[in-house]
Amino acid sequence: MAEGNKKKVALVTGGTGGLGTAICERLYKEGYKVAANYKDFTKAIQWREEAKKWREDQLKMGIDIHIVEGDVSDYKSAQAMVQEITDEVGPIDILVNNAGITRDAPLHKMTPEQWYEVMNVNLNSVFICSRLVIEGMIARGWGRIINMSSVNGAKGQFGQTNYSATKSAMYGFSKSLALEVAKKGITVNCISPGYVGTSMVMAIREDVREKILATVPAGRFGKPEEIAGMVAYLASDEGSFITGANMNINGGLHMY
Ligand code: CAA
Repeated sequence: MAEGNKKKVALVTGGTGGLGTAICERLYKEGYKVAANYKDFTKAIQWREEAKKWREDQLKMGIDIHIVEGDVSDYKSAQAMVQEITDEVGPIDILVNNAGITRDAPLHKMTPEQWYEVMNVNLNSVFICSRLVIEGMIARGWGRIINMSSVNGAKGQFGQTNYSATKSAMYGFSKSLALEVAKKGITVNCISPGYVGTSMVMAIREDVREKILATVPAGRFGKPEEIAGMVAYLASDEGSFITGANMNINGGLHMY
């Protein structure tokens, strides 16, 4: 662990989910102060209790992560969240835009709600959260923004015009912002996981999921820890010269 990490604060949006949990745990182990944002978009009533339980489980493992409520697709809600973290943990140095949802359907069956929900949660959140932290990062002359894209943003996927569009848009956003802040000690990168064994992937209909698995050259789904390791690297000082890049972690599913 680098000594300098102790002072740095990381925010992981969607931090209590499948990938988010592994990312929070890894960043905590690297010595950062970590805030996990949560909002369960599917079980609106239970989410606060679930997040508290998540934090208690982490504490039992000796991992002390600040949990913070907020809807990252809503500017005002996200602003309050960033303020809370700044006040209680410290100014945000590392932002992991990890919050994401799927609302899969072939386009001819997709509803406007399925389209807009995915746009708001997966893409507008990236603008909102990045916008809310970028000025502080510029002022302090150091920052990391890590956007969790997807293999399906690069290759497309049947039933995912909405999701793929948001994940692909992250590449353009990240490259443009990387140019704007390269001289300010801030890097902006994407990670594009393939199919990782999280609840999002396990929610795919079993027959469809089995067919997808058969197309992965590595012959297995990825592990959340394999994605978290890359987040830690991009966040580190060693990763300072990587910016505007995209890291593919997909078991060979798509090589480009
Ligand atoms: N390519 C070509 N044709 C396909 C196809 C594919 N990949 N998948 C389905 N079809 C065809 C079917 O053969 C079927 O054809 P017929 O009508 O001629 O029989 C037709 O399309 C309808 O297929 P479904 O019965 O599957 O349609 P549906 O409306 O019931 O389901 C769906 C659609 C929900 C999108 C389903 O296809 C599905 O779940 N697909 C997988 C989507 C996916 O990969 N999601 C990833 C989620 S995880 C994630 O996103 C994380 C990440 O970043 C990787």
